[in-house]
This record gives sequence, structure tokens and C-alpha cells, in this order.
Amino acid sequence: METVVFPAPNALTEAQIDPKIDLWAEIKRLKHEKNAIILAHYYQDPELQDIADYVGDSLDLSRAAAATDADMIVFCGVRFMAEVAKILSPDKTVVIPDADAGCSLEDSCPPKEFSEFRAKHPDHISLTYINCSAAVKAHSDIIVTSSNAKYIIDQIPADQPILFAPDRHLGGWLARETGRQMVLWDGVCIVHDQFSERELIKLKGHHPGTPVAAHPECHDGILQHADHVGSTRSILDYVTTSSESEFIIATEMHIIHQMQKQAPGKTFIPAPGNDGSCNCANCPFMALNSLEKLYLSMVNEAPGIYISDELRLQALKPLQKMLEMSPPPAKKPVTQAAE
Ligand code: 13P
Ligand code: SF4
Repeated sequence: METVVFPAPNALTEAQIDPKIDLWAEIKRLKHEKNAIILAHYYQDPELQDIADYVGDSLDLSRAAAATDADMIVFCGVRFMAEVAKILSPDKTVVIPDADAGCSLEDSCPPKEFSEFRAKHPDHISLTYINCSAAVKAHSDIIVTSSNAKYIIDQIPADQPILFAPDRHLGGWLARETGRQMVLWDGVCIVHDQFSERELIKLKGHHPGTPVAAHPECHDGILQHADHVGSTRSILDYVTTSSESEFIIATEMHIIHQMQKQAPGKTFIPAPGNDGSCNCANCPFMALNSLEKLYLSMVNEAPGIYISDELRLQALKPLQKMLEMSPPPAKKPVTQAAE
């Protein structure tokens, strides 16, 4: 019942790309030729964000994938995001530049162990973070993202016990914010788990009064110092609309590219990791995608995501529940890159 990612037989390889071609122009040409849409997460390399039709957080991108009338969805993000696109838009060809782009949260939560966890708590409703495999989604009641989780929990009767997987930091933050008792799966995002509270306090000392914006995948030692906690999209909205001109950013560092584009006069300082440097807030899974691999995925129409009907329909139910229970989309559309 697993998702299958197919490489194409006789596929063009990176070594075979003609060095004389203008990759940017070729990708644009293929986009029109194949009626494709390119979706990119804020954690992608700046050139992938800049060539995408839409750049967004997990919820924005799920909505864009569900709504598109393109024939092909090219997902510059990680595998679980491309799987969601395929589950919501089964008739489209869905490709991802690098099929090895996984996620530490997904890895922490194998489907078999997850169904045993569920079986131990038969009275609990299972809210599952979208950062998980299609098979784990299939065993869940409602999928959430960091931008809609609080809103969805508030619609669940107060006496209903909740299981939350796989991110224990996001789950812990949600439990504190909503006052709900929640049984948490013990997974973490390796990027948000590595920020250092001690180094953050030192950095704040050098920048007195500078607000800290943090993603709820960060551990509590970071969240306690945050002036704003929210999804990537909400952090972006916070820094662009705030009257402050300098911010410390505790999330994957490539979102700073989008902040600089949307608020060019402001300063964004990456939160430090354990060694005091800021270089470790770089997701190694997101980093697997590149402009070359994006081009190849469009030429080869591979690696493509394929999901059996049985698994797709099971995973679709909790995703549809998420879309039904989410707040209405923000008035302004997700970022649309210029042609
Ligand atoms: P959001 O963009 O939904 O905040 O998710 C962050 C993330 O870690 C995606 O992998
Ligand atoms: Fe997974 Fe963390 Fe990378 Fe997001 S940033 S894809 S949660 S490892």
C-alpha cells in the first residue's frame, strides 16, 4: 500500500544536459508545452522560488494543487507535499525534481508503528501533521498544517481526547495554546530542533528589542523567546506587515529570500544553531532539488508520484476533512512569480 515513485526508462540525465541551453527559458517553454504548473515551498532554493508559479506554505500549496487546471504539477518541495498534490488531483501528472526529498518527521513515523499507536488509544481522535506519508494519512482522522491546526482543534469537542503525530514540538505548542490534553508522537524536524536557546539569547543581547519570529516546529526553548509563532506563510505576513525593521528568523533559512523580496528595506537575521552559526537551518531534503533536476523532471515527466486507488481514497478522507475545517483562504493569493 505504498506510494510508488517511478523513474523514467531512458531518462535524460544531468550529465546529458546540453551546457549551452538556457535552463530558465527551457523550463518556461516546457511549462507552456506541457500545460504545467510549478509549485514551490518557501524552503526551496531562491532560483526555484523565483521560477515557480506559486510559492507558499503547505496549506497554500495543497489548495493550489487541488484547484489547478494544469495537466502537470511540478512540485518543488519534499515528497509528502507531492503526494498530497497527487491525492487531491489524481488525474494530473505529478512530478518532483528529486524523489529522495523526504522529511525527518515522515521518517520518524512508520505506518505500522503509527497504527499500533492508534490502536493503543482507541478513544482518541487522531490529528496528524501533513508532514507524514500517504499511508500514515490513511490511518488518521484529520490532517492539519501549522497554519490551520489551532483553528481545527477549536472545532473538536472539548472532552474529545486527541492523538497528535508526528511532531512533538508542534504538538506541545498546540496543547499549550489550546489547553487540550494531547498524546504526542515523538518525532522532530531536524532543522527546527537544532536551534540553540543559549545562542539565541546571546544574539538577542546584540540586537536588543529585535522581535523573534519562529515556526512551531521549533522546540520550546526557542518558542519561549518568540514574539510571533506561526507557519511559514504567517511568519512572512508578520515580518512584512510589522512596523519593525529587523527580525530574528527561527525557521529554515531559505524563506529569507522571500522576505527580502517582499520587504526589501528590512533586515532578517537567521536564528543560530548549537555552534552559534546560522548555516544549519538548511533542510537537507529540500536542498536536493535544483534547477537542473526541475528541468529534467519536466523533460522526463519523472520521477512521478503514483498511488494506488485504495491508498489514495483512504488518505483523501482526512485531507478533505482538513480542507473543510480550515479557515477560508487569505484574501491575497499565494505569491505569484512574475513571468
Ligand atoms: P509550513 O510551510 O506549512 O509552515 O511547513 C513548514 C515545513 O516544515 C514544511 O516542511
Ligand atoms: Fe521535514 Fe523539517 Fe525539512 Fe520541513 S524543514 S521538510 S519538516 S525536515
